[in-house]
Amino acid sequence: MTASESDAIFNTLLESAKRLSFDSRNPLIYQPEPGDDERHGMTPQWSPLFDTPMWERMSESERVRVTRNEVAQFLSVGIWLEVGLQVALLRASHSANPARPDIKFLFNECADENLHSLMFANAIESIGSKFYPRDRMLDFFGWVFRHIAWDEVAYGIVLAGEEIFDVMQRDWMTSGNVAAPIRRSAYIHVVEESRHMAYARRKIRDQLIGLSRVRRFMSTLIIAMGTHVIAKSLINRRIYDDLGLDWNDVRSNIDENEHHRMMFRRAAEPFIEFLSQEGLLNFGARWIYRKSNLL
Ligand SMILES: [Fe+2]
Ligand SMILES: [Fe+2]
Repeated sequence: MTASESDAIFNTLLESAKRLSFDSRNPLIYQPEPGDDERHGMTPQWSPLFDTPMWERMSESERVRVTRNEVAQFLSVGIWLEVGLQVALLRASHSANPARPDIKFLFNECADENLHSLMFANAIESIGSKFYPRDRMLDFFGWVFRHIAWDEVAYGIVLAGEEIFDVMQRDWMTSGNVAAPIRRSAYIHVVEESRHMAYARRKIRDQLIGLSRVRRFMSTLIIAMGTHVIAKSLINRRIYDDLGLDWNDVRSNIDENEHHRMMFRRAAEPFIEFLSQEGLLNFGARWIYRKSNLL
């Protein structure tokens, strides 16, 4: 594909953003619906504990508390990604010509991401949940990502997060047993992120043209490591401690949960498919994705 063909795609994405974008400052997004108090924070099937002996022992109201804490953790990782990707991508584009269609779309994407982070923060507050400190490993990886990630690696890790959230949130936005503010936020996110994913896929394809074998090999592994860190960080012991659940018990229930592994593999399927098409899956990367339960 030529540069002008890519530019045509970026212009189309910008046109689409003009036609359909949302403003997360709108308080109607966060208005509860009657019955919301009994509804889950996310589709319960996405809980890493769903279907485990521990889950079976819980009452429905205990399960609701679990998914409300878990959605706060998932969205806190989402916010971490949205802020990190802006730092990484804007840093790399600081001196670029602002009239370039890809740079104009990047400005639009960053505007979206800021409003998404605000939306997730508001949605979590509106269901009475709160954010917990993330793992130190994630902070360290974030620092490395912000300062070092190059072109296809930055877009690859961004795309991993976007694709995984897309699959989960498509369920959340249509689940009648999910609290309304989360359902609405998930819908808005799915709509706006479909453009971001098209953008990241195009940017990666452009970067891969004429790439040396050594660099492709390195990038493939680093994208896999980044994705591993994101997947692992979705589970945070602090949210379970806060619920009074024994962490060792929680961990062994999750580790043995085949349903959870199946859901994670489902979440990663479109991303893995893309990597495979673009030649970004080697032996080492496959091993890492298997370790993360994504393959
Ligand atoms: Fe987003
Ligand atoms: Fe995005």
